[in-house]
Amino acid sequence: MGGIGSCCFGFCLLVVLIGISSGIRYQPTWESIDSRPLPAWYDHGKLGIFIHWGVFSVPSAGFNSQSEWFWTYWRQEKLPAYVNFMKNNYRPDFTYADFARDFTAEFFDPNAWAELFQSSGADYIVFTSKHGEGFTNWPSNISFNWNSMEVGPQRDLVGELMTAIRTKTNLHFGLYHCLYEWLNPLYINDKANNWKTYDFVRTKAMPALYEIVNKYQPDIVWSDGDYEAPDTYWGSTEFLAWLYNDSPVKDIVVTNDRWGMNDTCKHGGYWTCKDRYMPTKVPPKKWENTMTIDKGSWGFRRNANLEDYLTIEELLAIFIQTVSLGGNMLMNVGPQKDGVIAPIFEERLRQVGAWMGVNGEAIRGTNPWTTQNDTMVPDTWYTKKDSTVYALVLTWPSNGVLSLSAPMPTSNTTVNMIGYSGQFEWQKRSGGGIDIMFPNIPIDKLPVKYAWVLTLSNLENA
Ligand SMILES: *[C@@H]1O[C@H](CO)[C@@H](O)[C@H](O)[C@H]1NC(C)=O
Ligand SMILES: *[C@@H]1O[C@H](CO)[C@@H](O)[C@H](O)[C@H]1NC(C)=O
Ligand SMILES: *[C@@H]1O[C@H](CO)[C@@H](O)[C@H](O)[C@H]1NC(C)=O
Ligand SMILES: *[C@@H]1O[C@H](CO)[C@@H](O)[C@H](O)[C@H]1NC(C)=O
Repeated sequence: MGGIGSCCFGFCLLVVLIGISSGIRYQPTWESIDSRPLPAWYDHGKLGIFIHWGVFSVPSAGFNSQSEWFWTYWRQEKLPAYVNFMKNNYRPDFTYADFARDFTAEFFDPNAWAELFQSSGADYIVFTSKHGEGFTNWPSNISFNWNSMEVGPQRDLVGELMTAIRTKTNLHFGLYHCLYEWLNPLYINDKANNWKTYDFVRTKAMPALYEIVNKYQPDIVWSDGDYEAPDTYWGSTEFLAWLYNDSPVKDIVVTNDRWGMNDTCKHGGYWTCKDRYMPTKVPPKKWENTMTIDKGSWGFRRNANLEDYLTIEELLAIFIQTVSLGGNMLMNVGPQKDGVIAPIFEERLRQVGAWMGVNGEAIRGTNPWTTQNDTMVPDTWYTKKDSTVYALVLTWPSNGVLSLSAPMPTSNTTVNMIGYSGQFEWQKRSGGGIDIMFPNIPIDKLPVKYAWVLTLSNLENA
């Protein structure tokens, strides 16, 4: 008996010691969940690639709206253009499920995707495990016949991409998971009961979420569930307490803020607020600008025009502004149903990567400076690392002189352009600030064609 007692004592002591060594246990309350420090890796890299892929990639059509909401826009008759598209092009008894067999993925090469995402200069990816259509991109045992193993690709898309990312790159692997399933009868019923019944969340939404965390151990759980139902319906804080205390990713995992109605910009691991969020000053919490290269859609659109895609100059302007304001940018691409990532997306990813290859030191591991953008000239943004201030210049000064109001030079100040050898001349401005003389650099000696970065050292106000 004594043996059992001391064994129990030892065990209890061990539990207490583990509890102390790993810090507090999180409670299923927002106060406790929100107090968790953000794992440092997330802030460091600044750039993630978002990938929207699913059955919606089969119709891949958007009419002044996104393509991944196709099913609900059509079936719930939310947007007439989608209803008419189906009326005009498909037989009357065609169902959304009929699209699934054409989700063929025959050109899906996870290693090639991984190489492309790595080449973009990103530090992480976020892949749609399941969107609002409910189709799971992994062989979920609670999504009978509506998953990528049983219909369509007949492959574990999540698993294959995870393996490629983790074996071929050093990127972090994150998963997007939509809590909602617009047309799931259980969901519709819970909604009709004003969220007082929980059949959908208990039998589908939450089991699926636990399943992907246990099976794929994502570094990010990117939840999409910020409208309609409250987090008390989803049981979000209970899930997050498990995720942070007991899950296989408890120390590394990062989460966003879309855990229920009115939670965005308020609760969770970091803020996404709304799609394409861009604050006007540095927010009090780490945030992410979740945006798309195709300005109109997350899922692929066959009917997108060239002008629907952000140019590299526009993309870098958004990225630089985001980082100056303390955010990360999650940049979305929509692969085609066959697994091809269209050359326009590929080009943008590789262009951002080439720019990062030169200028990454002004992005990675930086913090917002005291000033985010200069007031004297438009389009010059700042970041800071140690005692170096970076000025990211979106518009080349037309008269060869860049006048900035924020940096206060000392006699020891030096100004360089990253990727260009030789220092730039400068003068202290009488009213404060600095005039920087841009030399006439031959075009073939320019380090990049857009968004040039100056390093300012030994500033008085660094
Ligand atoms: C589904 O998978 C989970 C974990 O992977 C397992 O615990 C559960 O028993 C499975 N359920 C069915 C119905 O196979
Ligand atoms: C969310 O906010 C709106 C507007 O303030 C309010 O009407 C609604 O009741 C809130 N819902 C929840 C679940 O908190
Ligand atoms: C830049 O700074 C000015 C003044 O601080 C501000 O009014 C402006 O909105 C900022 N943002 C942009 C995009 O220029
Ligand atoms: C410039 O650098 C020298 C040598 O490191 C130092 O002694 C001096 O105080 C610096 N001057 C200013 C204005 O920072």
